[in-house]
Amino acid sequence: MTYVVAISNEKGGVAKTTTALSLGGALARLGKKVLMIDLDAQANLTLALGIPPARVSLGSNDVLLASVALQDCIQSSPISGLDIVPSNTKIELVEQLLPVYINYADRLKNAIAEALPLPYEFIILDCPPALGAVTRNALTAAHLLLIPTQAEFFSAYALRNMMQMIQTVRREGNPYLSYRILVTMFDRRNRAHRDIYKQLKNTFKDGLFSTVIEVDTKLRESPISGVPITHYTPKSRGAQQYRALAEELIRYAQEKERH
Ligand SMILES: Nc1ncnc2c1ncn2[C@@H]1O[C@H](COP(=O)(O)OP(=O)(O)OP(=O)(O)O)[C@@H](O)[C@H]1O
Ligand SMILES: [Mg+2]
Repeated sequence: MTYVVAISNEKGGVAKTTTALSLGGALARLGKKVLMIDLDAQANLTLALGIPPARVSLGSNDVLLASVALQDCIQSSPISGLDIVPSNTKIELVEQLLPVYINYADRLKNAIAEALPLPYEFIILDCPPALGAVTRNALTAAHLLLIPTQAEFFSAYALRNMMQMIQTVRREGNPYLSYRILVTMFDRRNRAHRDIYKQLKNTFKDGLFSTVIEVDTKLRESPISGVPITHYTPKSRGAQQYRALAEELIRYAQEKERH
């Protein structure tokens, strides 16, 4: 089975792309085959794997708007086991035009279904920082919504909108969508971080991944090198924590498959 994980949060800069890249790298290191789909006009994930967005001829926008087959948009990356459907600024057009069509939220889900069976155990969707038509497609296509968040007041507050979005998507096309929150850029020495983490744990309980991603400057450097942190500095704290996250995700997906 191919397990689809959407990484989304309306809030910008909470480590969505860093998590997509590092989790993808960690899963690949654990021997899993992974397809990443960049759905953001900023194309940070595409760039982080060394692909210039301006030179993308077929990308995620073509899957969503031009009904190009998913397989035709897949590129291999420098990392063994890790492939990508790249993105570029054209996806902004998708955001504007897509709502004109009926059932527009099902397009990515259908594109993945038509491409099955795929040689991937995981598909990771990197979403833009907005809850528009593109994110709706990602959440409709996903088994799991992974919500990265910082342990900060405004970030915790933004989770309310995410919970509302989950309700809408469950009602209108993906009744089995589950979610897990991932605390990112955590600073153990910061008291506010510790307090907000406790509050999040009390509110969401099992809805939180046990793995927490702490601040690690190596995570800022790895995109410059064009490879995920798991391949850039495998022994760094960031690489180890994303590996723990990958293991937790694999266990979670296996449990879900059994039920
Ligand atoms: N654990 C971490 N420690 C230190 N820096 C981090 C960590 N995670 C992410 N960052 C840095 O935080 C910044 C924002 O991360 P990223 O681009 O992944 O967020 P995003 O949610 O994808 O942003 P956007 O909403 O713009 O798509 C980047 O500079 C990234 O390198
Ligand atoms: Mg991003």
